[in-house]
Amino acid sequence: MGWAIALHGGAGVPKNLPPERRKPREEGLRRALEVGVSALKSHASALDAVELVVRELENNPHFNAGKGSVLNSNGSVEMEACIMDGNTKNCGAVSGLSTVVNPVSLARLVMEKTPHIYLGFAGAEAFAREQGVETVDPSHFITKENIERLNHAKDANRVQLDYTPPSQATNEKDTGVPEGDKLGTVGCVAVDSHGNLATATSTGGLVNKMIGRIGDTPIIGAGTYANSFCAISATGVGEEIIRCTVARDVAALMEYTNLSLKDAADQVVKGASEGTTGLVGVSAGGEITMPFNTIGMFRACATEDGVPEVAIWPSL
Ligand code: GLY
Repeated sequence: MGWAIALHGGAGVPKNLPPERRKPREEGLRRALEVGVSALKSHASALDAVELVVRELENNPHFNAGKGSVLNSNGSVEMEACIMDGNTKNCGAVSGLSTVVNPVSLARLVMEKTPHIYLGFAGAEAFAREQGVETVDPSHFITKENIERLNHAKDANRVQLDYTPPSQATNEKDTGVPEGDKLGTVGCVAVDSHGNLATATSTGGLVNKMIGRIGDTPIIGAGTYANSFCAISATGVGEEIIRCTVARDVAALMEYTNLSLKDAADQVVKGASEGTTGLVGVSAGGEITMPFNTIGMFRACATEDGVPEVAIWPSL
């Protein structure tokens, strides 16, 4: 069986994204896809491939994770991430990080080096120090662009979602954030040539969110889930994705009703409120699906035998 990989850079895409905002993100997706493809071609495990891809996206300030993480209402960052291995169902998650350069790798250490699944806030930061992962001063994440985004959201008195549903906002005046300034969560799913599945997701959350708010990304079964049927990483409005247990529902439909990955994912995304949810998924057989009920979703995929794809809006 051949390998397959899919990744997303968030469902935060307006209809008219100017080229200066679109191109660096497309380039970022392309580069991240190359990282994953080259790992899988060199026989890396699916778990290693998804971690490498998400680290690449976390290091790219054009996405809402790691370096590009958006700011809380008090101007600080609280990043979160999750990783899961499909065959073993081992998983790790972190929340409330303000100094860790690559939250996804800390999530993997929680999975591999602790008896637990999920560490948050002071405990997660202390664990990062204990493990010696790369950390920086919290000011590293407070970029000029992120301060502007926060100020726009505050001026409009909004918690700015990484994607703003059309029912709530259709233009800059409504959202308080300039079109093209909305950043998305990142995630990656892969199956390797041995049929092992894995998923990883990472985010800075929402602009102007309350301190301590936790979204769907680190919650196993909501934003992130993998088993022996499929691996899923979701993006969009965290509260809706949690309510709909998006990632686990796709796997459960496949397991209990024999639906294909595509049919299961379409059903789950259709069941979530319009304008809130997108996901990337891969099955043990190498099928890829990338549905969304938002205007667009930054995404990319490749298979061992197929043509690589980078896309934003619905495919024709
Ligand atoms: N989907 C990212 C969040 O709501 O935090």
